[in-house]
Amino acid sequence: MKEIRKESVLYMYQSLDELSLAVSNLMERAVEARKRAYAPYSKFQVGAALLLDNNEVITGSNQENASYPSGLCAERTAIYYAGSQYPNAKILKMAISAGASEKQTTKPIPPCGACRQSIAEYELKQESPIEIFFMGETGEIAKSNSLSNLLPFVFDKSEL
Ligand code: THU
Repeated sequence: MKEIRKESVLYMYQSLDELSLAVSNLMERAVEARKRAYAPYSKFQVGAALLLDNNEVITGSNQENASYPSGLCAERTAIYYAGSQYPNAKILKMAISAGASEKQTTKPIPPCGACRQSIAEYELKQESPIEIFFMGETGEIAKSNSLSNLLPFVFDKSEL
């Protein structure tokens, strides 16, 4: 038996003031996107904003459906829009803000597993890391230097 170990690291920031203006502006776009979420079933709203290397900002919010599994998370709404609109652009950063209607979300909410797998595809395709910043409505902001840091032992195309 041998052990294979991978370490994940998050950097925590007390407020957006500790981050660059570019990141703080991107998070502002994610917050605005969160307000456009369509989440009548979960009452949990998520907004995501992507900064591309062509300077475009792409946003997305979660879109739910009466047939629950047909809905889509904010992160995938944004990443698939970016991929379909700007297939050759690299994604530099992603900002995510999440909050519930009935209580204040004060801690960072990371992307779900399905979104991590989807974002991983683009990180592998572009061969450069996507920085991920995530927060609740208020409180600390978490930063991951790459998606691979959030999804060690990823499933990828290598054996397809
Ligand atoms: N949701 C996201 O938009 N992103 C995530 O990473 C986690 C969950 C959405 C899906 C659903 O509309 C609601 O939040 C509750 O799960």
